[in-house]
Amino acid sequence: MAAPLSETTIATIKATAPALQEHGVTITTRMYERLFQNEGVRAMFDQAAQESGEQPRRLAAAILGYAQNVDKLQNLTGAVARMVQRHVDTGVKAEHYPLVAEALLPAIRDVLGEAASDEVLAAWGEAYWFLADILIGKEAELYAEQAA
Ligand code: HEM
Repeated sequence: MAAPLSETTIATIKATAPALQEHGVTITTRMYERLFQNEGVRAMFDQAAQESGEQPRRLAAAILGYAQNVDKLQNLTGAVARMVQRHVDTGVKAEHYPLVAEALLPAIRDVLGEAASDEVLAAWGEAYWFLADILIGKEAELYAEQAA
């Protein structure tokens, strides 16, 4: 289990919610451009949902929901269960998570520019891995159940 996020990290993340509300889809669209430079990862995604903008919208909504509820994760139980199910359906594994982090954090900087200070990016790096660890743990349980 990851260490809890610090009060400072939580406050920094919550303060980014308005910018995410405004620019979330631009950030996730940029994130997928970066992520899909890896052909193997690109092939895991339904490209129609990319082209329609549906998947960038879903991810932006998930990130905004996370920013708004980072100190009340119980509100995200249903959303997390849905992500876990989709991830297991599409074969997402722990080793993919660094690739998404390496695409998402630069995309935040690309879009928010100077508003994404080093402090903001560090907080998002920490918060990303906090959520990623929850997803990775639940996905491992679901893979194990399916294998049993
Ligand atoms: C903390 C990190 C992540 C978050 C917050 C996240 C969030 C989401 C969300 C919200 C969905 C849509 C679920 C729905 O159908 O409603 C989704 C689907 C998906 N995610 Fe993730 N995800 C994360 C990490 C990853 C990683 C590491 C991969 C692997 C490359 C990945 C691959 C996918 C795929 C392939 C889908 C299905 C998309 C499709 O239908 O084309 N995700 N994710």
